[in-house]
Amino acid sequence: MGVSADLDSSATSSRRTPLIAGNWKMNLDHLQAVAFVQKLHWTLKDAKHEDGSVEVAVFPPFTDLRTVQTLLDADKIPFALGAQDVSTQDSGAYTGEISGAFLAKLDASYVIIGHSERRQYHAETDEVVAAKVKAALKHSLVPVICVGETLEQREESGPTAVSVAQLQVALEGVPADADIVIAYEPVWAIGTGQVASPEQAQEVCAAVRRVVAEKLGEDAAARTRVLYGGSVKAANIASFMREPDVDGALVGGASLVVDEFAAIIRYQKHVGV
Ligand code: PGA
Repeated sequence: MGVSADLDSSATSSRRTPLIAGNWKMNLDHLQAVAFVQKLHWTLKDAKHEDGSVEVAVFPPFTDLRTVQTLLDADKIPFALGAQDVSTQDSGAYTGEISGAFLAKLDASYVIIGHSERRQYHAETDEVVAAKVKAALKHSLVPVICVGETLEQREESGPTAVSVAQLQVALEGVPADADIVIAYEPVWAIGTGQVASPEQAQEVCAAVRRVVAEKLGEDAAARTRVLYGGSVKAANIASFMREPDVDGALVGGASLVVDEFAAIIRYQKHVGV
């Protein structure tokens, strides 16, 4: 959706528009999705929140996308729409796959690529992730590229090595002016309630930004939003958003609870408290 706004400097040290992204995973059918999006919109509207200072994106399952798109459009709800995956291919004999061209036709703005659940359950390699990033960009979708280490990998090679290596491959051949988002999601913090500390998130998000600088240049590094993901809740979002290299959050479980997700979106209310 690309809303730009003057940000309150006490709320963030960067000029990048914060992005709060709700990854629904395999939850909410298309009827539940309508009720959820309407309720979220109503909750935020009531609080006069929708001023563009934070960009909100929802990532429903594929079967909900058309319904949610129609609702956002009809009710002029200012949430961006994203998909949870995309095919490396444009069309053809690839049973079960979804083309980036189809997602673009649905006005999807974003697509999550390389989520650890895809890497783990669908054997997605760094090379597949890189091909999906290219497929997304080809159809003008902004890839939300997920990176992050398991606990074992953190113990073996330190906090940044895995994310740096994954991102180096994912950004191979990506043009310097590409619009991308990176999500640092330590695997040990996803759905576990075991959240990274703000300092841990900052360390890896800063390392990730350095990779963007090396591969795509300083301008891209200054412009690209780097999100933290993994057990983000209303109670901890503000502490992450205070970190200079954290530009938002990719939220799983807490994005399925209207009041909780709305409170995460309104984190500026609790920043500095
Ligand atoms: P979680 O999931 O917020 O439920 O930990 C985050 C994610 O997997 O994107």
